[in-house]
Amino acid sequence: MILKRIVLFFAAALLSSGLANALPDEGMWLPMLLKQLNEADMQQKGLKLSAEDIYSINQSSLKDAIVSFGGFCTGEMISPEGLLLTNHHCGYGQVQAHSTVENDYLTKGFWAMNREQELPNPGLTATFIVRMEDVTKQVLSGIPATATEAAREAAIQKNIARVRSEAIAGTDYNAIIRPFFYGNEYYMYVTETFRDVRLVGAPPSAIGKFGGDTDNWMWPRHTGDFSIFRIYAGPGNKPADYSPNNKPYKPKHHLPISLNGVTEGDFTLVFGFPGRTSEYLTSHAVQEIYEVSNPAKINIRDTKLRILDKDMKASDAVRIQYAAKYASIANYWKKWIGENRGLQKANTIARKQQLEQQFQQWAATNDKRQQQYGNLMADFEKNYRSLDGITISRDYITEAALGIELIKQAADYMKLQELLDKKASESLINSTADQLADAAAGFYKNYNAPTDKKVFAALMALYYNDIDPKLHPEVFKTVQQQYKGDFEKYADAVYGKSFFTSEAGVKEAMAAIKAGKTQVLKNDPAFQLASGIVSHYRANILPTYTQVNDNLNLLYRTYMTGLREMQQDKKFYPDANSTLRVAYGEVEPYEPLDGIKYKYYTTLEGVMEKAAMEGIEDYVIPARLKELYEQKDYGPYGVNGEMPVAFIASNHTTGGNSGSPVINAHGQLIGTNFDRNWEGTMSDISYNPDQVRNIAIDARYMLFIVDKFAGAGHLVQEMTLVTDDTSGLAHVDSKRKSSEKEAKKEKKKEKKRKRKEKEPAL
Ligand code: ARG
Ligand code: GLU
Repeated sequence: MILKRIVLFFAAALLSSGLANALPDEGMWLPMLLKQLNEADMQQKGLKLSAEDIYSINQSSLKDAIVSFGGFCTGEMISPEGLLLTNHHCGYGQVQAHSTVENDYLTKGFWAMNREQELPNPGLTATFIVRMEDVTKQVLSGIPATATEAAREAAIQKNIARVRSEAIAGTDYNAIIRPFFYGNEYYMYVTETFRDVRLVGAPPSAIGKFGGDTDNWMWPRHTGDFSIFRIYAGPGNKPADYSPNNKPYKPKHHLPISLNGVTEGDFTLVFGFPGRTSEYLTSHAVQEIYEVSNPAKINIRDTKLRILDKDMKASDAVRIQYAAKYASIANYWKKWIGENRGLQKANTIARKQQLEQQFQQWAATNDKRQQQYGNLMADFEKNYRSLDGITISRDYITEAALGIELIKQAADYMKLQELLDKKASESLINSTADQLADAAAGFYKNYNAPTDKKVFAALMALYYNDIDPKLHPEVFKTVQQQYKGDFEKYADAVYGKSFFTSEAGVKEAMAAIKAGKTQVLKNDPAFQLASGIVSHYRANILPTYTQVNDNLNLLYRTYMTGLREMQQDKKFYPDANSTLRVAYGEVEPYEPLDGIKYKYYTTLEGVMEKAAMEGIEDYVIPARLKELYEQKDYGPYGVNGEMPVAFIASNHTTGGNSGSPVINAHGQLIGTNFDRNWEGTMSDISYNPDQVRNIAIDARYMLFIVDKFAGAGHLVQEMTLVTDDTSGLAHVDSKRKSSEKEAKKEKKKEKKRKRKEKEPAL
C-alpha cells in the first residue's frame, strides 16, 4: 500500500514536471476542435496524420468513412462500393429478421455471394456527417442571463429551429443541434442519411457472439463480433428509399485495412458515435449511483435473470423466445456491477469530493467568484437531497414495474384509454386499437405468460418492500387489503383475469372496444395496475424529478464554467451525446488485480481453449473453424503461425461506439470496437487510465473469417488491403491532387477572365 502511494507520488511529480503536455488517454473529442486541442498531443503520441486528415470539410477525410449505423451503433466504409463494417451484435436484429427455421442465419451465418443476394432491411439507416459547426452564439442569442430555465429552454428551441432550417434549406440534408457542457455550448451536425442498407454477411453466432454473456464485458476475449452491410444510393449517389435500381454507394473515403496488426504502445484512434457519459457529476450524484441506484437496479435484474434462466433451461421454446431479451437485460446488469467495482477501486467519490473542496476554496479567493460559485456546492447538496426517494422510485418503476412484460404491455394501451376518456372520434379510436392489435403479434411471438407471472410476483414484491410506503402508488392498497401482501396470490389473480396474457385476448378486447364496449380496458386488472403506477409516476414522481433536474442543469452549467476557469490548463471534452467523436490512446495491456497481467491481444488458440471447456454453451464453435485452426490455414492474415483475434487499447469509449473503427497512426483500419473491459466500465462516470480498455476485433480476424471461413473472398477483393505505412489517405490523395489541379486550372481561367475584363473593350 505504502509502496503504491510512493509510486503514485512519483508518477504525479513526473506528470507535473516534464511530461505535462501529454494528456491522458481520457476524452471523447469533437472532430472540428482536434486541430486546436489535440493535434499536437496526438502527433506526440505517434499519429502520422494531421487533424485535417481526420476531419475536414474541404477535402475527403477519415470522417467521410464513418456512419451512425441505425442510430444505435457505428459503422465504417471499407470499400469504394459502399461496404459497411460494424459489429455482429449491431446487425443482430437484421440477421434475426431474415432468419427462419429453415434458413437460420443466426446459427449458420449469412453470406451474399453476389450483389443480388444482398438483403434489404426496411427502416435501417446509415448517417454520414457532412459538417459540424459551433452555433452557440446563434442558439443563445436574445436570451437574458436572468431568464428562468424554462424560458431559456423555450427560446433556445426556437433559435435551434431557425438555425437548423437555415442550414439545410435547399438540400436533402438533416441537421441536429445539441447542447454540450450542460448548455454552455451548442454544436450543429449536418447529416446525410442513407435508407437502403443491405445485409451482406454475418458469421455464425458461434463466431460473431462467441463467448456470449459469459464473456460479455470481459477480457481476454475471443469474439468475432462483426457483420457487413452495403449502402445503396439512388441517382447521383444520393440517398433513396429501397429500389432494385439503386446502385452501391460510392463513399468519399473508405478505410484501407492494414495487415500489419498492432504492437504494444501503438497509437490508436476510435472514430464513432458514443451514446452517453456523465463525467462531471458531483460526488453527491456518484454516491447516489454507487450506493442506491446501481445496487437496486442490479438486484432487480438479478432477480429477473434468475427466473428467466430457470425457465429457459427447462424449455427450448422459452429459451428461443427469451434469448435476445435475456442478453439485453444481462448486458447492463453486468455493466453496473463492473461500474460499481471500478468506482470503488478508483476511489471516485472521495476524489470528486476533493475536487469540490478545491473548487470551494478557489471560489472563496475573490468576491466575484464567491458570488458566482460560493453557494454552488451547497445548492447541489440541497437539490440532490430533495431527490431522496424520487430517483429510487423512478428506478423501481422503470426497472421493476415496467420490467414486467405484462405491465409494460398494458401501459402501452393507456393512450387508447385516454382517447376513450376524451371521447375522441370513432375513426381515431379504431385505428389506434388496430395499431395496438397489430403490434401485439410481434410481442406475443416471444412472450411466455407463466414465466412473466413469476417475474411479476418477484419484482412487484421488491417494489412493494423496498420503496417507502409514502411513495407507493395507490393501487398497492389493494394488494395490502385483498391479498395481504401475498404477491403470488396477487399474480394468480392478475394473470388469471387479464386479457393481456395472450395475443388472442388482446385481439378480442380491441374488437370489443371497436364495437363500443368502452370499459374493457378499465376492467382489466393488468391495465388497472399499469395505469395506476404510471399515473402515480406522473403525479408524484415526475414533477419533482423534472423540477430538480432543471435546477441541476443550471447548477452544472455554472459548475462547468467555474471548473474551466479554475483549471485553465486542462483540456475539457464534453460528455458523450450520440454525436461524432474521436477518442485516442494506445495498444496497452493492464493489471486487473494484484498478481495478474493481461496481454494486449488474443489469438485463435484461446478460442480453442475455451471450446475445449465442456458444457459451456457460449463456447461451442463451428467444426470448420477448428479445421482451419488445425491446418493453420490462415492465409495472409496470420502471423508466425498464429491467428490474432482481438486486442485492447486505452481509447475512451462507451455504448454506441460499438462498430467504431479502430484506426492506426496512418489512418488505416486495424480493428472494430465492440466492447469495454469490465474493470473499465466506470469510465462513463470517471476514467481510470490504469484500468480502462476498449476491446476490438482484429481486422485480420475479420478478413480471415470472410475469406477463409466463409469463402467470401470476393468481398475482400473489394477492400483495400495494405502492408506499408503510406498514409491511410493515400488512395484518396490522387483524387485530392486531381481536385487541387482542377482548382488551379479554375484559378488560371479566372485570372484570364479578369485580365480580359480589364482589357478595354474594342
Ligand atoms: N457489452 C457490449 C455492449 O454493450 C456487447 C453487448 C452484446 N453482447 C452480449 N453478449 N450481450 O453493448
Ligand atoms: N458494446 C457496446 C456498444 O454496443 C460498446 C461497449 C461500451 O459500452 O463501451 O456500443
